[in-house]
Amino acid sequence: MMTRIVGTAYLGLLVLATGCDGWKTPSGPPASLDADLRQSLGRWGVVPIGPTPAQPQALVDLGQALMFDKVLSGNRDIACATCHDPVSHATDGLALSIGTGGSGLGPSRTLGPGRQFIPRNAPTLVNAGLGSFYLFWDGRVSGNRFGFQTPAGTALPSGLPSLLAAQAMFPVMNREEMRGARGDSDRFGNPNELADFGDSDFVSVWQAVMRRLLAIPEYVSKFNAAFPQTSAGELGFQHAATAIAAFETQALTRTNSPFDRYLLHDDAALTSEQKRGALLFFGDKARCASCHGGPLLGGGDFANAAVPQLGPGTGAGAPLDFGRGELFNQEFYRFAFRATSLRNVELTAPYMHDGAFSTLEAVLHHYNDVPRALREYDASQLPPALQPMYHGDAATISAVLTNLDGRLLAPLDLSEVEIQELVAFLKALTDPSARDLTALIPARVPSGLPVRE
Ligand code: HEC
Ligand code: HEC
Repeated sequence: MMTRIVGTAYLGLLVLATGCDGWKTPSGPPASLDADLRQSLGRWGVVPIGPTPAQPQALVDLGQALMFDKVLSGNRDIACATCHDPVSHATDGLALSIGTGGSGLGPSRTLGPGRQFIPRNAPTLVNAGLGSFYLFWDGRVSGNRFGFQTPAGTALPSGLPSLLAAQAMFPVMNREEMRGARGDSDRFGNPNELADFGDSDFVSVWQAVMRRLLAIPEYVSKFNAAFPQTSAGELGFQHAATAIAAFETQALTRTNSPFDRYLLHDDAALTSEQKRGALLFFGDKARCASCHGGPLLGGGDFANAAVPQLGPGTGAGAPLDFGRGELFNQEFYRFAFRATSLRNVELTAPYMHDGAFSTLEAVLHHYNDVPRALREYDASQLPPALQPMYHGDAATISAVLTNLDGRLLAPLDLSEVEIQELVAFLKALTDPSARDLTALIPARVPSGLPVRE
């Protein structure tokens, strides 16, 4: 303790003597990078994440089948795993997702005739089971097991064990993602009965999906194995959602990154470059942790980071996307999105709510001087189909900047070396076991519909 105080006083003197050199390490006894970093981490509630409790195997099996089965979609042409594909680290590698009617998988997936892009980027499901209080880019599904806030209000059935299970009730409601438009026919040319219900008739859609599932004998046995205490008549889509969440939690929790090992006191787990990046991240120069703090390194906070506006937009703001501002119709939250968890972020390009940046370097260049980066955003980095959907007009840019989060107003003045250090730190958040998730893809699903197409 004594040496620390002396060291700090020494550093203060030196800074005075050399003018205003900010936080640069002076010559003289080098402060220990690890001591500085561990102290700086302490401010942000960053703790290692222990193992998650194992989920019952029968529940996980059912959840895996449902996750990959296109029978959940109105047109029987898209599964959860189409947009949350293990090959693409439980996302789709697209800037904006492509829903029902589309064809192909991963970054080369294309829109179906007459269909529109989903307004947002698909977040990875890796670590979705860690218990974030908010889900979706705008946090419209939130809460914990003591109570959920969701778009379904009181129509949400009781008995859902987690927020992740509550979330799984919604993709089947979404017409662009999975349900389809009125008058659509499914892949066999049969009428799409799920598309007939109104957009707020949650209960009828959930019941209709369950009728499809329970017409398949293999699902009846899987549901019975997963819910031995529940009679066939009591089974509802909340049981399917519970199983999907169990699969997500069991198969996709990946928290053994070099950074986690560092948090468990293995100083050698990070390179010096990564440690310097971490000091920037948690320190006063880059200030990343003020929004991406806590054990998940994000997920609990919303901010307008002035990300370029791109795509069809959603709600009252369309063709713009007001994000959380759309939800509460509140000026304060306009253009605010969830400051996502950065764990495993290396694996899930493109970045941000609309995939506006294709590399971590591009994200860091944006943060380095946000107002300027937004004004100078070059849409030619986008896939050709999205370039005409970039909203780079002066009015949009000024509206976005009016509400820019105060923490991002001043340029960070990061050098190219510091940018590389930050990128190196972000790559230390990757659990090596998340690099290849393809073992999670089942060979077949109970409906018999194709798994990979
Ligand atoms: C058409 C592509 C598509 C399909 C199909 C799809 N999703 Fe998603 N998913 C997305 C997009 C896009 C978002 C972000 C939407 C938003 O924030 O408004 C998302 C968000 C999520 C989230 C929230 C993650 C987070 O960190 O906030 C979860 C969990 C999730 N999806 C699970 C599922 C499940 C389970 C299914 C199947 C029942 C499914 N998804 C089907 C594209 C898709
Ligand atoms: C004022 C709060 C704030 C600060 C400070 C901040 N971020 Fe963010 N970050 C966000 C928000 C909000 C998003 C999502 C924005 C969006 O999609 O519109 C985000 C998204 C990201 C993403 C993309 C994640 C993904 O999955 O697409 C990365 C990477 C990132 N931030 C890294 C950083 C780094 C590195 C720093 C420090 C230089 C930093 N952030 C500072 C709020 C912040």
